[in-house]
Amino acid sequence: MCAPRDRRHAAMLRGRVDPGTIIEAPRRWPTVTARYHIDAADNAAHRPDQQRVSMREVSLINDVLVVHGDTPLRGEVRVRGAKNLVSKAMVAALLGEAPSRLYDVPRIRDVEVVSDLLELHGVRVSDGSEPGELVLDPTNVERANADELNVHAGSSRIPILLCGPLLHRLGHAFIPDLGGCHIGDRPIDFHLGALRQFGAVVEKTAKGLDITAPAGLHGTKFELPYPSVGATEQVLLTAVLAEGVTELRSAAVEPEIIDLICVLQKMGAIITVHTDRVIEIEGVQSLGGYAHRPIPDRIEAASWGAAALATGGDVFVRGARQADMMTFLNAFRSIGGRLEIEDPAAGLAGVAGGGGIRFWHPGDELRAVAVETDVHPGFMTDWQQPMVVALTQARGLSIVHETVYERRLGYTESLRAMGATIQTYRECLGGTPCRFGRRNFRHSAVIAGPSKLHAADLRIPDLRAGFSHLIAALAAKGSSTVYGVSLINRGYEDFEAKLVGLGAHVERP
Ligand code: EPU
Repeated sequence: MCAPRDRRHAAMLRGRVDPGTIIEAPRRWPTVTARYHIDAADNAAHRPDQQRVSMREVSLINDVLVVHGDTPLRGEVRVRGAKNLVSKAMVAALLGEAPSRLYDVPRIRDVEVVSDLLELHGVRVSDGSEPGELVLDPTNVERANADELNVHAGSSRIPILLCGPLLHRLGHAFIPDLGGCHIGDRPIDFHLGALRQFGAVVEKTAKGLDITAPAGLHGTKFELPYPSVGATEQVLLTAVLAEGVTELRSAAVEPEIIDLICVLQKMGAIITVHTDRVIEIEGVQSLGGYAHRPIPDRIEAASWGAAALATGGDVFVRGARQADMMTFLNAFRSIGGRLEIEDPAAGLAGVAGGGGIRFWHPGDELRAVAVETDVHPGFMTDWQQPMVVALTQARGLSIVHETVYERRLGYTESLRAMGATIQTYRECLGGTPCRFGRRNFRHSAVIAGPSKLHAADLRIPDLRAGFSHLIAALAAKGSSTVYGVSLINRGYEDFEAKLVGLGAHVERP
């Protein structure tokens, strides 16, 4: 027999939290003793007037969108190739001795950054004959000028993935300081550990990382301390041309990783994905080019789905693919959202963008749920922020446990400023005690809903939180001013035009 508290916790883990439930930490974690409830005084400390944008930020004036709220999004949007595959496939082209073709590439800032980085290394990047087609010709790869590369310092995390390909092609790699969203420390210790095991020598200089491989790169056995997406890609991109066999344990197996393996296989690589997160790579002498149509962007697709739910709308996301989004679809349905899946065969058979998923609000109340982010096949950390906006509209206490990044809940401050009732916790409020549980990170949240959101001045902190701010502004009463919207261009193609196409009222002041 379960004690009532454990039964409530078990229900939470199944994804449902009944309205009015007081969430208690389960007995299994003795360090957590508090009872969690929403503290009204804590929320009152975050009123919109205290969130006013300061004069210092007026320089962002050209980067502002006014969003008129209370607007259900209705209509159709199309998603293209996944940002988190496209950028890596572009890097993979460096490994080939012949040009590669990548289709359905979104026009986003991250693609521009990677194109620039490749061009600085002598890769010719040009548009192909169909819209969204990129041709990458690596036949004249050359060493890039460090100062020119440094123009991109702090703009992306992709440069670290150039290490293996550049070492194979040139025997040397210079990597500028990395950027990316500020959602945690995001160290690169796994990347550098793996590179060293392959035989690379890493020198940290004032300008960036200087990496060489005096004795070449050799296959190795490596076990990741955590199934990192980037570190798995690092190993794949290095091992394919290293001498001998590489065995990677505790590898990430996200759909974008499997798609990158497909790209590499098209180029001539020999890669086996075993059970239990083990990937084996047999190094080959040389690789050719590829022609590849990437998997659709499941983060963008989920963002539009959550936007439909949060705004009480109805959006068909053309190109969204069920197989990559099953965990999101389950959570969406548990909240009470309605969805309908159209297979590609039923739509435009064999044509890019065929099929998709329709997401809509049921018209009656949404239900609170418990969500825990995790590596694949878990609930993606990048789905968390848009989903939390929808959860502010669900009745009861929802729980979110963020286990991938330690600082990915900071944006909830803005939602509180808009009237949402959200409290964050240092403890692990979820099924699995995570790496952050005994450290000082507010990585769990309890959301009490439904809340009537009102307009506010908002400053976008990072890519996914930025899109969530837009959704919240659309769901809120009144007109919100959103600062720093260009950050959203990093991962959402034509987001402004898509919003307008769905009936949103937005304007540049
Ligand atoms: N980690 C380390 N050491 C490392 C590498 C990672 O401690 O050397 C830790 C990170 O700090 C984090 C965890 O491992 O806590 C997972 O990081 P991972 O390496 O998996 O993330 P990433 O490769 O840097 C990619 C996506 C992210 C996405 C994550 C998780 C790209 C360009 N970025 O990041 O996407 O959230 O995987 O799926 O592919 C986004 O698109 O907005 C975004 C942040």
